[in-house]
Amino acid sequence: MSSPTDITALPKVELHLHIEGTLEPELIFELASRHGMELPYASLDDLRARYAFEDLQSFLDLYYANMAVLRTADDFARLTAAYLRRAAAGGVRHAEIFFDPQAHLVRGVPLAEVVEGLVEGAYAGTAETGTTSALIACFLRDRSSEEALEVLEQLVAMKAPIIGIGLDSAEVGHPASEFTDVYARAAELGLHRVAHAGEEAGPDYVWEALDLLGVQRVDHGVQSVRDHTLVQRLVVDRIPLTVCPLSNVRLRVFESLADHVLPQLLAAGVVTTINSDDPAYFGGYVDDNYAAVADQLGLDRADLARLAHHSVEASFLPQGRKVALDREIDAWLGEPAS
Ligand code: HPA
Ligand code: ZN
Repeated sequence: MSSPTDITALPKVELHLHIEGTLEPELIFELASRHGMELPYASLDDLRARYAFEDLQSFLDLYYANMAVLRTADDFARLTAAYLRRAAAGGVRHAEIFFDPQAHLVRGVPLAEVVEGLVEGAYAGTAETGTTSALIACFLRDRSSEEALEVLEQLVAMKAPIIGIGLDSAEVGHPASEFTDVYARAAELGLHRVAHAGEEAGPDYVWEALDLLGVQRVDHGVQSVRDHTLVQRLVVDRIPLTVCPLSNVRLRVFESLADHVLPQLLAAGVVTTINSDDPAYFGGYVDDNYAAVADQLGLDRADLARLAHHSVEASFLPQGRKVALDREIDAWLGEPAS
């Protein structure tokens, strides 16, 4: 069994991380104070007591409410640099970071503040740690596709350095089929395409993301195990899933880690990766997720190295960097556990 310190030394890529979900309670209080804002929480403990979620929506309500403290480019820069620092300490060599432009635009925060801050924080974080990153703009599936398309055009017009688009927020009742125009435009622009699907909703949502949006990765996708034909499709086309084990337990997708379908996905040959989703809310960063599945699902060092190799394969990094990271992972596996 690998020790947690050993897991932090395993080189890995994070592919499912909402930057707004790295907003730690301490930073919420600090930014509120800086902006002279009154928070609806009496204390840090009072805020933390609200982190017992029933489902995805109960989490999203708090996630969007807490974003109120993110107002300036400097706030976004602080958030991003802090995430990269923490991720690097957990062995993350590269992160493809989601952000939710609409969640800030609807609060009156200009897109330029958001993008400039994310870019500045990413630059500072990389300079400090060597961990690189890229940005993926996620559209909110519980808002209209017309609005998503408009925001995509704004991002293009301002030359925002995004590598792709994603789809997140409340899933059930908001299928991928509503967003075909947005994904067609992204393909035309040469952007990568990913989407959350099969987190709370069933395999049909994953089929739509594959067949109607042409996604290259599926975020979560854990409900795919309910459809053998779909699992075969993921295996044959090597469509990766960005699985977030601690998130799935906190949002009650599975009752416990012991009930998680990760072993089934790996056994079937799906390119499964481990990620943290919203680490400030779900009890751990990506290394904590690796440690939890190692412990609770009995994964050995070779399994962990395989998951890390999958994270490299599933990334949008250039081939040369992938080869270098794969070598680093093999070197980790060749060393005795600490
Ligand atoms: N699912 C959907 N939307 C989200 C999530 C998630 O896990 N995290 C942040 N927005
Ligand atoms: Zn997510």
